[in-house]
Amino acid sequence: MIPVCRLEDLPAGESVRLDTTPPVAVFNADGALYAVDDTCSHQDASLSEGWLEGCLVECPLHAATFDLRTGQPTCLPARRPVRTHRVSVVDGTIHVHLTEPAAVPVPVPASATSAIVPAGVSGAGSLSATAHSTLTGEGSAA
Ligand code: FES
Repeated sequence: MIPVCRLEDLPAGESVRLDTTPPVAVFNADGALYAVDDTCSHQDASLSEGWLEGCLVECPLHAATFDLRTGQPTCLPARRPVRTHRVSVVDGTIHVHLTEPAAVPVPVPASATSAIVPAGVSGAGSLSATAHSTLTGEGSAA
């Protein structure tokens, strides 16, 4: 949970950028608080410097728009979403709860008799080897 600022310091229609890794943009838009990855999924532009219209933010570089509720682009040239993050207000201070990267491998339990490792998951090679070994008995003491 990362503190952002006091609620009164982020008025409606404004945004703030957090220098986290990756950077996060927090918006007060359309009567709600939203947080998304700050870097546009098209190229290297800061969405916190974009323009708000309702719960959409328009990228300042090539004008792709993103829905702050879902992170999904609503027009080209952006094709990929930006991650969304949960926002809370505790004692008048806005906090962001950073979302785990979507490609975090899920450990396979040692007792698993079957496992499905999604294709393209970062680190899937080592997970596949573990699952294969579990399923076939390879690597176990003879
Ligand atoms: S960098 Fe955002 S639309 Fe191109």
